Amino acid sequence: MPLHFKTSGAKTPKNILIAFEKNQEDKGYVQALAGLAYEPTLSLNAKDTVTFFHHQQEQKIIVLGLGDEKDLPKSYHYFRSVVHQMRSKAALVLEVHGSHLSEEYLTNAVIGLRQGLLNVGSYKTNGNKITEPELTLVIKKEQKSVVHKALAIAESQLSAMHLVDTPSNIKTPKYMADFAIASGKQYGYDVKILDKKQLTKLKCDALLAVGQGSVNESVMIVMEYKPKKSKSKTPQLGLVGKGISFDTGGISIKPSANMGYMKSDMAGAAAVIGAVELAARLQLDIHVVGIVPAAENSVDALSIRPGDVIGSYLGKTIEVIDTDAEGRLVLADGLAYLIKNHQPDQIIDLATLTGSVIAALGYTTAGMFTQNDEMASKLTQVGTKINERVWRMPFWEEYATDMQSDIADIKNLSAKPVAGSVTAAKFLEAFTSDHKNWVHLDIAGVAFSDTEYAKMRTATGYGVRLLGAYMEQIS
Ligand code: BES
Ligand code: ZN
Ligand code: ZN
Repeated sequence: MPLHFKTSGAKTPKNILIAFEKNQEDKGYVQALAGLAYEPTLSLNAKDTVTFFHHQQEQKIIVLGLGDEKDLPKSYHYFRSVVHQMRSKAALVLEVHGSHLSEEYLTNAVIGLRQGLLNVGSYKTNGNKITEPELTLVIKKEQKSVVHKALAIAESQLSAMHLVDTPSNIKTPKYMADFAIASGKQYGYDVKILDKKQLTKLKCDALLAVGQGSVNESVMIVMEYKPKKSKSKTPQLGLVGKGISFDTGGISIKPSANMGYMKSDMAGAAAVIGAVELAARLQLDIHVVGIVPAAENSVDALSIRPGDVIGSYLGKTIEVIDTDAEGRLVLADGLAYLIKNHQPDQIIDLATLTGSVIAALGYTTAGMFTQNDEMASKLTQVGTKINERVWRMPFWEEYATDMQSDIADIKNLSAKPVAGSVTAAKFLEAFTSDHKNWVHLDIAGVAFSDTEYAKMRTATGYGVRLLGAYMEQIS
């Protein structure tokens, strides 16, 4: 394990990292640690670092500022940056002092330190040769459970991030299915895969239609985690994640600029797999089912065309106006399958669904669509606290009229070039059988973005921690 814990420090670590909130400033501590003859000047603004050298002991003391309360949700980023910047340096030994940190800060510290070890260059021929820094966290005994929980969060996030960053020639729908199977085996939850034959029999025609132009066949991944002493037959929570392994747009093909980013069009799926994994790791007291309708949206002679009418698991017919609006098609079957077969109390779906949500909200918050005030306020509160924000969007029934088709039950694209993320959500609503406790999160802007890890965009792991914290709240 690249991160270990101790309840006392080593005699002479090469580097020491200590983080303080502004109001926690402890000059005396730093002065003694660094062997300084004077009281140091510390800048404890969020993310600021000040470095001191202890010449006799040949060690470096890095003081990291945590700012004030408003900076807390983002504090995992500060730790992550410090570790990430140090990664390239060979044989790094870093001792992090954590015993003075509160539960919330310690959680963020552990998540950041662990995430800082992510290696995005795993396909470089020398990619695995980067020396792993040796991180030691010095804490009090009674902080151990906080650290173990934070580490489980970080590792489930990392596996989701890795999956999103995996190129689509490797990450087929079947690869995602195998990934979920392996996670289920390792952490103790059930995974069932519905293949093309079974999906055909079940009439998951919308999911199959999206994948029909690809040699990589569509699958539906069904995950179930049940606590040991669970009494409930039906799950308290059902999750659905958009699992498009690559989105070319299909016959309504996308422009080539940045099309490569569409390998991330399964970030909703990664969040759902990561969240079910996290529930199992933490043995949360909640019965949860996760569904991933997975397909590749390719251009081919067999692809669906604009104007085609297709069926769906629920039985409704859909006029495909634009084959690039494919996420809502696979989610229609995912949602309908979940509701019919599992009858969950609550449903949350996550999808990189529209460019329109990015136009509306940018890259700092997901769009949230729901009729349920209680779920909306809980998710808002949890998301703000952990820096995976959601912002509630309008969702009045007027928007649904834009999705009426002349020749089928519904069409997959509004005729008006406005409010695209809302009309997309209205399309999904038509497949929820009026379930009262359903929330749709459009994560197109937050799932894959600029990070300190890379020059191009990379996965953020959005959703894993949010869903984990939400599950804890309602369990
Ligand atoms: N996967 C895209 C949405 C997307 C865009 C995600 C940018 C992440 C970044 C989705 O399938 C799509 O193509 N949506 C279209 C819908 C349009 C055809 C109605 C869009 O938003 O442009
Ligand atoms: Zn698309
Ligand atoms: Zn898409």
